[in-house]
Amino acid sequence: MTLLPDLFIQNCGQLLTVAGASRRPKTLKDMDDLGIILDGAVAIKDGNIIDVGTTRQLGKKYNRKGVNIINAWGKVVLPGFVDCHTHVVFGGDRAGEFVQRIQGENYLEILKKGGGILSTVKNTRKLTLEKLVEVSKKHLDTMLLHGTTTVEIKSGYGLDNKSELKILKTIQRLQKAHYMDIVPTFLGAHTIPSEYQSDTEAYVDFVCNMLPEIKAYATFCDVFCDEGGFDVQQSERILSTAKKLGFKLKIHTNEFKDIGGVHLAIRSCVISADHLDNIKHRDILKLKESGIICVLLPGVPFFLMKDNYAPGRKMIEDGLPIALATDFNPGTCPCENIQMIITLACLKLGMTPAQGINAVTINAAHAVGMADRIGSIEIGKQADIIILDIQDYNQLPYYFGRNHVKTVLKKGRLIVENKQLVDLR
Ligand code: NIG
Ligand code: FE
Repeated sequence: MTLLPDLFIQNCGQLLTVAGASRRPKTLKDMDDLGIILDGAVAIKDGNIIDVGTTRQLGKKYNRKGVNIINAWGKVVLPGFVDCHTHVVFGGDRAGEFVQRIQGENYLEILKKGGGILSTVKNTRKLTLEKLVEVSKKHLDTMLLHGTTTVEIKSGYGLDNKSELKILKTIQRLQKAHYMDIVPTFLGAHTIPSEYQSDTEAYVDFVCNMLPEIKAYATFCDVFCDEGGFDVQQSERILSTAKKLGFKLKIHTNEFKDIGGVHLAIRSCVISADHLDNIKHRDILKLKESGIICVLLPGVPFFLMKDNYAPGRKMIEDGLPIALATDFNPGTCPCENIQMIITLACLKLGMTPAQGINAVTINAAHAVGMADRIGSIEIGKQADIIILDIQDYNQLPYYFGRNHVKTVLKKGRLIVENKQLVDLR
């Protein structure tokens, strides 16, 4: 007897399954393969995918009385987006600094004068946990409306014990209060707070000493190894301490300058190296051997009005596993819409739409260590599925700036319908 689903999605014009890469991220030619099933269908039971095929094959089995049917009417259906690098929890905004920058001021100069990240730290320290939950939840709702069903969130706008814990507890609350799956990351080493400007080593000690207490709240530990952040030796101290405590690792590096962060990433066996806008070809080849996922964030140079984008197409040709993310934060990319990032990856990194979609689904799922559960439409996976109001996936980056997401299912539950949140939490 056929096991009846609770929900059956049929008539998907293009069903992008993104299948076949749950064990290893996609590279090379696989980056151009979306595992498309024309006139596809998906059967869902108890929040999980129980069958995938064509509407003709599956309709006979599952289009029955008692099964909820979603008709996709020839639209594009794919796995929910995974935004694998964000800084969602912060107070205030930096719209004023944005105006200063378009009038010629420089991002790092603003930071040196106590603005930039440090001004967001001031605003974040001021907010109560309840208020932080309230403002962050709005960002998550916007992301969800744009098709993101899993998000990695970093701390890093507290930079003292009390405030970093407040941010991590905010993330924990959001995990309970929101449908989105959230991956928490500790980024105490985001920048050097004002109190420690004269003794940066003491701040590195402070971060290392916080790690045991943080372990209960964060899966990953990240460092900002770049100009305006931490040097290689300081970053290594933090990453190696975190590793001994059982954290998985990430690194922000080569965003502004190449200070040797790629070599550190390889030595430290990080899961992902993020940014990589200023990277030499020989380091690309070294990264290839390491299996590290390269998380590219083209919204950042775009918003900072820079020309140095990570060489995405070249990196794919060289065999590197590429993921994309928003880096959503108040300073360098205040954009919750990951669809826009796919457009930037096409226009500025030379990636194809198919490569872009693989990079925000299965490869991004690998970058947060969740590819066994999310990132593709395959039997056994969580039913995190979105329906786009387009007929061909190339239209996703092409009609840029538009929200294409019509429907969002999270663990088989209808959360967004006709572009509105319908099941509020
Ligand atoms: O990933 N410094 C790095 N962190 C963010 C920027 C944060 C900010 O400007 O508030 C980044 O680009
Ligand atoms: Fe970042």
